Amino acid sequence: MAFDDALVALLRRAERVSVLTGAGVSAESGVPTFRDAQTGLWARFRPEELATPEAFRENPKLVWEWYAWRRELCARVAPNAGHLALAALERRFPTFRLITQNVDGLHQRAGSRAVVELHGNITTTRCFDDGGVVESWEELGEVPPRCPRCGGLLRPGVVWFNESLPPRALEAATEAAQSAEVFFSIGTSALVQPAASLPLLAHEHGAIVVEINPGPTPLSQRADYAIAGRAGDVLPALADLLGAL
Ligand code: OAD
Repeated sequence: MAFDDALVALLRRAERVSVLTGAGVSAESGVPTFRDAQTGLWARFRPEELATPEAFRENPKLVWEWYAWRRELCARVAPNAGHLALAALERRFPTFRLITQNVDGLHQRAGSRAVVELHGNITTTRCFDDGGVVESWEELGEVPPRCPRCGGLLRPGVVWFNESLPPRALEAATEAAQSAEVFFSIGTSALVQPAASLPLLAHEHGAIVVEINPGPTPLSQRADYAIAGRAGDVLPALADLLGAL
């Protein structure tokens, strides 16, 4: 795979690299993306039916069961070559920030150490009423189960539409965008805010923005480089070229 010489030269001397990932990075592990026409999760479900606080209030059992299904799926699959290359690249650069919209934990399982999770993590559970993290509860057959502290309904520890992002994660992501020399946007449709504005913020602060995605997105025109390809092909080739593997 051929990369632009100027990009390779820049990466060889870069000290601060930040990466934003989305569902496309986990596609090759077998986790369906959200918006891809044939396989995307939103092709079968409407987001407002499943991924909002209103939907949970309306039909908590459906929402809980949908996330339970996704949680089991995420536990069954393994990190792919793209995740592994990102973990290797983390060790290659003095400062490397990995920001993900994914809730599947695959970056961590691949060995990435400092992962900023913008949309939470599907393995965690919170109380819908008091918002606190719940580590364990009694299975009494009720779906969703109840919070052992206050009796409220339990919900997945992910961020839904119409909810704010975890403030510390958003702060860390903003800082990572503002301080990067090179900012990668990988496997994301670049449609969901505020994550979608991070590459633009990085660009405003002087970063060279590189997109890796098999198809075009609203970012493609504005990125300095748009590499058309799958994360599992492009990232290992890049990591190899930079001596990270
Ligand atoms: P999307 O499903 O919107 O976009 C996935 C992107 O991955 C698309 O642009 C695909 O072209 C690309 N893609 C597919 N296969 C790929 C591969 N092998 N390598 C690289 N790219 C590939 O997913 P996100 O952008 O992550 O939020 O969606 C953002 C947020 O919207 C999600 O975090 C989720 C969703 O609603 C919440 O649940 C809050």
